[in-house]
Amino acid sequence: ETKYRPFNAFPFPERTWPNNTITKAPIWCAVDMRDGNQSLINPMDHDRKIRFFKLLVDCGFKHIEVGFPSASETEFNFVRYLIDNNMIPEDVTIQVLTAARPELIERTFEALKGAKKVVIHVYNAIAEIFRRIVFNKSQDEIIDMATTATQLVVDHCNKNPETHWTFEYSPENFSLAEIDYAIRICEAVADVWKPSEQRPMIINLPSSVEASTPNVFADQIEYFCTHFSQRDKVCISVHPHNDRGTAIATAELSLLAGADRIEGCLFGNGERTGNADLVVLALNLYSQGIHPNLDFHDIKHIGEVVKECNELPIHPRHPYVGDLVFSAFSGSHQDAIKKGFQNRQKQNHTYWEMPYLPIDPADLGCSYEAVIRVNSQSGKSGAAWILQQNHGIELPPHLQREFSTIIQQKTDQSGHELTPAEIWSIFREHYGLT
Ligand code: KIV
Ligand code: ZN
Repeated sequence: ETKYRPFNAFPFPERTWPNNTITKAPIWCAVDMRDGNQSLINPMDHDRKIRFFKLLVDCGFKHIEVGFPSASETEFNFVRYLIDNNMIPEDVTIQVLTAARPELIERTFEALKGAKKVVIHVYNAIAEIFRRIVFNKSQDEIIDMATTATQLVVDHCNKNPETHWTFEYSPENFSLAEIDYAIRICEAVADVWKPSEQRPMIINLPSSVEASTPNVFADQIEYFCTHFSQRDKVCISVHPHNDRGTAIATAELSLLAGADRIEGCLFGNGERTGNADLVVLALNLYSQGIHPNLDFHDIKHIGEVVKECNELPIHPRHPYVGDLVFSAFSGSHQDAIKKGFQNRQKQNHTYWEMPYLPIDPADLGCSYEAVIRVNSQSGKSGAAWILQQNHGIELPPHLQREFSTIIQQKTDQSGHELTPAEIWSIFREHYGLT
């Protein structure tokens, strides 16, 4: 029995729906150091990038997009530094991005000399608006651009057989493109690369700008998976952006629709409104009994490093990590949680079952002490719970009522939350304890 049970296992084990739920973790690819980095006010310098890379390795990411080496000297030198200083663990594959342009591909391969395992990631925009406004090219000319780039990649990979190469192709703005055209271009690219077990290939389908409800994107993924003739030979990846605020749902529905892999960023950094948040995705799985194969046991530390590297704050209500997410302010919530903890002591089952707390804060390195806070919104239970938990004092119901009135007066006067130490001091003062 796992600590967290799948949605349909509890509390109605006889329920036959939903019949389609995610049953295993996808392959994760962290693109913080590329998509995330390119969207920062101050892109990461060398030291911040090293710090971020080590963090991603410690979290357990096996695919890490480390940059866009042809974009700048900093990016190029960073990739060289990782390779020259043996910074890449054996089980980690670095990924680098390049546009489908010959001179950029040449430069990218210079950056990669001597690397052990690489995902070489080539993209070009394919949607009609881009063909017409940005490139002034026909459908066939765009296909030609993609296949010419792929042939160049094949030639370089063949010349450097000491590296284990995986080829990734992204038809940028896939979700805005004509779906049969997207399939046609991916077929043409795959025909050049010739995917097999020895020549792995990833087709990464981005919602470069999120433009539909998540179910529509998922339908596009399902259609792609069922109509792409080489589906069994390639890994299907998705890369959802968050323009409509639904990247998490889009990523989750994409897994149900057949995707194998997800690209995103920690805490949802990335262009404009960000990429899909990999921490939320992973912990959503975890809290439904599926191990994500990522380690977030010290979420606060991860949050601090990411804040420092990105120079961006994390919202206090951000799922799983925000400063307020394990707090209950209202009396009824506090009461329910108190009963949940009492029930937990009585029961001998191991699974997590707690009103208002979908995940055990301890699993993320957060403490129970922070869970119940006492302010003017609290009912009678909050202060009593703190006395019981911190000082072993079990107040009878009439004293709970009396003491909560005193606490209510204090919080009404100050308008502030009271800390456990302040509650203890008020208790001692009021009941004359020394
Ligand atoms: O959002 C996007 O389409 C991208 C591609 C380069 C994969 O970041
Ligand atoms: Zn992107």
